[in-house]
Amino acid sequence: MSRSLRIPGLVDLIQADVRSDIRGLADDARLDRSFDPRGPLINRILVHRIRSVLRVDGMPLPSVAPRSDAQRARAQDVLRRRLDPAGGMPLWDEETIAGLVGAVRSAPGAPALGPATQQAIGRLFASDYKASPESWAAAGVLDAAVHTRNPLRAILLHLSGRLQRSRRLLADLVHGDLAGVHATGIAVHNLVRGFERMRELWSEPRWRSPSSVDAVVEQCLFAPPSVLRQAAGPGATVCGAVRAGTLVVLELEAARERTPGRDLEFMVGNWAQCPAAAFVPALLRAVWQRAIAAPAAEVVS
Ligand code: HEM
Repeated sequence: MSRSLRIPGLVDLIQADVRSDIRGLADDARLDRSFDPRGPLINRILVHRIRSVLRVDGMPLPSVAPRSDAQRARAQDVLRRRLDPAGGMPLWDEETIAGLVGAVRSAPGAPALGPATQQAIGRLFASDYKASPESWAAAGVLDAAVHTRNPLRAILLHLSGRLQRSRRLLADLVHGDLAGVHATGIAVHNLVRGFERMRELWSEPRWRSPSSVDAVVEQCLFAPPSVLRQAAGPGATVCGAVRAGTLVVLELEAARERTPGRDLEFMVGNWAQCPAAAFVPALLRAVWQRAIAAPAAEVVS
């Protein structure tokens, strides 16, 4: 179902949470991620937040860059090919996998799930990436600054300088790679939810059979709750009319709960598709297979 919230001068928003609507809207050339300061008050506040938070040295992170940004599209393609598990390049190392397996099995001395996951992703961008309580806290700050519903909290994160410091730390750790900042600061939270779910499944011995691996991986895939588009101009969409500046919220998680599919979780087949669409399920699989294969004594932090 789609809902429209339109109060002149205040807000102009469409929310879609049905797979077919989301696909229609995602393919609509009128809807993009330019995030220009236009539309009524709340639209401008939301756009300002994206523009001021999800940016490093004046450049937007690729997940909020426009479709026509050729540099974004090139980098997306290069990263997708680099992260393809069929490409033959190692995508994780022994220390990282052992840490994640230990965290999933709640082994004594294992690292916490958040930093262990952040390190697994960070090493795709910097082979010496070492997650720490500070880097994990920085990911929490970036995520809160863009997603919090408490405007006071968002303002305080700016004014206190915590947002700027967190973003700098995340960027330095991946040597300034914009996709790396998005991955270790924002996308990492989806994967952590997956590993948290995996830890719950680990506590139920019935899932530990090799024949359940596919089912476990599916249950550990979490889409971002929503992604945002902005109408570049007026016209009709599958969910009704938009004006220049209308914001369109694609509620991926709600849609996925009804009908799972990679076209929702990772927007596969769309211009904005996630370059880690094959990597993420492969990592979940590798960790789970190792978790169910390893005797308890082998799981070290
Ligand atoms: C469970 C984990 C993940 C999920 C569900 C996920 C999902 C998504 C989705 C739905 C988008 C599209 C955003 C939009 O349309 O506005 C996206 C974009 C992106 N994702 Fe992921 N992602 C995950 C993990 C990762 C990881 C691990 C990386 C990097 C290693 C990554 C890198 C990116 C990048 C760079 C983009 C922007 C692509 C572009 O438009 O150029 N993601 N992701």
